Amino acid sequence: MQADIDRIIVSRDRIAARIREMADAVGEWYGNSEQGLIIVAILSGAIIFVADLIRRLPMKMKIGLITVSSYHGSRSRPAQIVYSSHVDVTGRDVLIVDDILDTGQTLRLVLAELARQGPASLRTCVLLRKPDKAPPDLKPDLVGFDVEDVFVVGYGLDYNGHYRNFPDIAVLKPGLCPTYRPMV
Ligand code: XMP
Repeated sequence: MQADIDRIIVSRDRIAARIREMADAVGEWYGNSEQGLIIVAILSGAIIFVADLIRRLPMKMKIGLITVSSYHGSRSRPAQIVYSSHVDVTGRDVLIVDDILDTGQTLRLVLAELARQGPASLRTCVLLRKPDKAPPDLKPDLVGFDVEDVFVVGYGLDYNGHYRNFPDIAVLKPGLCPTYRPMV
């Protein structure tokens, strides 16, 4: 796996430090919530991020899971929710957690679906954002890192199912980099 990596753009140490800050911010928002927080994580890319984030949260919380099929901005094949663990978010404080905000299709879709269910509050948190691509009207409440517009892998993010277990956020060697392809 290491041999496929061209360069690391966010190291594991920087990720860990930033997650501590992000968890503090989430703690300030929801620390006094009586019912506790509902985190909705978008699978599969957010698995490692959400696991690290929630273990630093001091308040009561539940987790919901959603899988979105993604065709990277294709208009003819819009993103679709293909799985939901159906946590009841009505009247609850909800934080959506995703790995990366790229074109914004995924986050917009999940935001709309959860807003429809009438939560008490709804915020969004992404580990990475590609500011060159992210739509200006879609601003997550919490962003870990802004990154350049390259395909990144590691720390939960995959190419063709691989590299999720690589501990840093990295770019693959030229020739191994994908043209964007469907993935869930
Ligand atoms: P959109 O375009 O909907 O994309 O904001 C969000 C989802 O697409 C995946 N994605 C990536 N996955 N490296 C990846 O491994 C990337 O550079 C990348 N860009 C987008 C990801 O699943 C994200 O939730």
